[in-house]
Amino acid sequence: MRIALFGGSFDPVHYGHLALIRDALSSGAVDKVIVIPTVNNSFKRGRALTPAPYRYYMVRDVIKDTFKHDVYVCDIEFSLEGISYTVNTLREITRDVYIIPFLMKNGVPGELAAQRHQFFWLCGSDILPDFDKWYKPSEILSYAVLLCAKRKGDETDILEQAARLKGIFGCDIATFEMNGVDQASSEIKADGDFSSLPETAQEFINTHDFYNAVRILDRCSDEACALFYDAAVKMYPMLSGKRLLHTLNVGLLSARLADAHGADIDKALIAGCLHDCAKEYPIDEQLRMAQSVSGDLFIDEKLLHSPAGAYVAREMFGVTDQEVLDAITYHTTGRGGATMLDKIVYLADKIEPARTYTDLTEMRRLAPDDLDAALRLCALAVAEKFRKKGRPQHPITDDFMRDLGI
Ligand SMILES: [Fe+2]
Ligand SMILES: [Fe+2]
Repeated sequence: MRIALFGGSFDPVHYGHLALIRDALSSGAVDKVIVIPTVNNSFKRGRALTPAPYRYYMVRDVIKDTFKHDVYVCDIEFSLEGISYTVNTLREITRDVYIIPFLMKNGVPGELAAQRHQFFWLCGSDILPDFDKWYKPSEILSYAVLLCAKRKGDETDILEQAARLKGIFGCDIATFEMNGVDQASSEIKADGDFSSLPETAQEFINTHDFYNAVRILDRCSDEACALFYDAAVKMYPMLSGKRLLHTLNVGLLSARLADAHGADIDKALIAGCLHDCAKEYPIDEQLRMAQSVSGDLFIDEKLLHSPAGAYVAREMFGVTDQEVLDAITYHTTGRGGATMLDKIVYLADKIEPARTYTDLTEMRRLAPDDLDAALRLCALAVAEKFRKKGRPQHPITDDFMRDLGI
């Protein structure tokens, strides 16, 4: 099969991306398109780029709603070390041991998936002038042919560039006619006006509110940001999409609440983003980790992930700050004598933007101004949930509530 690989940061994904895919397929240039959101973009390192899980899951939702077949989204870059250079991604994705199972997992029959494929790197003509400055361009061309979208008026430029690259690398460039709209992610992101995006992207952005929330990262230290970005990638194989986005949302909201209440923003970001990191470990492992953190204080299976999370934060992410580890340990129950950080993470966990279990409007309104008032509403709502399910609350939650004056 002829397979186009379409890499990009998709920050955010827009109609221009979708038009490129649609036109590449309808022109007959290729049979399939695999979309590959970059994880650590080499040109836009650090805070400029939204953490990878937001972009990956947004693209996945949009592609699923837009194309019924022949277009797949690939998470390969989560498992590659270091900066996402195109050459590294191509080297891995074009290997039979990767591409055959990937296609089959996406519903391509085994016989077809196991064929010898021809790979293309799908791109706009804007990359051609600088392509020879990319990392290892010859090796890139040994895996894939450049497949360039040709817009009206582009012809002479593309011919010129194609001749230039042929002179350097001896390669040919494939092209296809593109009629679709053109949009620029950077402008949309800078404007903060997402109304021109596909509806599914708008919904995703509204649900998680991450373009607003990530602004707090500008006020966090480089070290805390680096840990946040690193954790976002490392937790990808540890958590389901919904839970990973939840725990990142809690990190960003905790940092914003810390900012509003004069608490330590870095600690809040880290405790918040790691608070559920252990939630999908097998229960017996959670129990072992929990016991090493807090002995037999927590025995209820639903609570184990909190101290176990502190264990993983320490062992896997190198967090040594006891205040941060405690905020993770007590995020489900609260405790008597709770610190400001404990309270912030507890509350952010229950009211982050994607939460919908009850009407959170008033808690959200109160949270930046009166933390304890928001917590009182929150702790009462949680207690009510427990009562309805016939589950007793942990005794330290009673202490937590008493301190809040409930
Ligand atoms: Fe939790
Ligand atoms: Fe949580």
